[in-house]
Amino acid sequence: MKIKKAVFPVGGLGTRFLPATKASPKEMLPVVDKPLIQYAVKEAIDAGCDEIIFITGRGKRAIMDHFDVSVELEVQLEAAGKFDQLEEIRDIMPEYVTAMGIRQSRPLGLGHAVYCARKVIGDEPFAVLLADDMIYGGRNPVLSQMTDLFDKVQSSIVAVEEVDPSETHKYGIVRITDVDGRTGKIQEIVEKPLPEHAPSNLGVVGRYILTPEIFGILENLPKGLGGEIQLTDAIAQLMKTQDVYSYAYRGKRYDCGSKLGYLAATVEYGVNHKDLGEDFKVYLKEFVESMDE
Ligand code: G1P
Repeated sequence: MKIKKAVFPVGGLGTRFLPATKASPKEMLPVVDKPLIQYAVKEAIDAGCDEIIFITGRGKRAIMDHFDVSVELEVQLEAAGKFDQLEEIRDIMPEYVTAMGIRQSRPLGLGHAVYCARKVIGDEPFAVLLADDMIYGGRNPVLSQMTDLFDKVQSSIVAVEEVDPSETHKYGIVRITDVDGRTGKIQEIVEKPLPEHAPSNLGVVGRYILTPEIFGILENLPKGLGGEIQLTDAIAQLMKTQDVYSYAYRGKRYDCGSKLGYLAATVEYGVNHKDLGEDFKVYLKEFVESMDE
């Protein structure tokens, strides 16, 4: 089976970026010239997904609008001869890809957000991407690396990365046995344990491939940490009946759920930007030097 459907939980309130996120979704914060969510959606499309499912909440209309066709804008750009921009606008959502929004009526956690997609996913494996975790994978984006692995194992896969041992309380943490190289078999998964209780410092990052059996588990799952339905807890249940793999991806992650990570992403994507990069590098060098004066 191939992964064709990707779920994007975008219902969160984005309180860490207030007041910027008071009236617009945090997923629409731009990194250089594209909103955060566009990078993640492109990653899914590049990995072969052609159905994009947003799990939305209040005040998230801008996300749906961003991925919708804007006939007015296209007509204006065409009339003005701005063909590069026109192409860029059209590239946001290739014609063969469909997008839909499902409203998560109450913010009951990541597990609940994923559960909201059950009717659209049906009986097939699917991807989950958390747009806050922006991951630069170069020519081989992380979800593509994971779908390659899925082709071999046909089982659930969770992306992982070594995190600072003092920060285990910010991540799902796994204990694995090595399979080979970057791949492991998960033996234990815990949501946000304190460092003294963490089974390792291997943290879950926001990329998952899940088999549809996760829905039956989520349906009956009691609330976990923070009174929320935790995806991590559902994966722990899934492991009782199926293998679940960890995958230490190739790439660099920017935690855009934090201001520092977001600024780092902005600077590094700016430096690597095709039109802006060279000028920005010059500016940045001069600016850093001026700070030492
Ligand atoms: C969620 C998951 C957590 C995972 C993290 C990755 O937490 O619950 O297991 O490690 O995403 O970004 P959140 O960051 O939404 O609190």
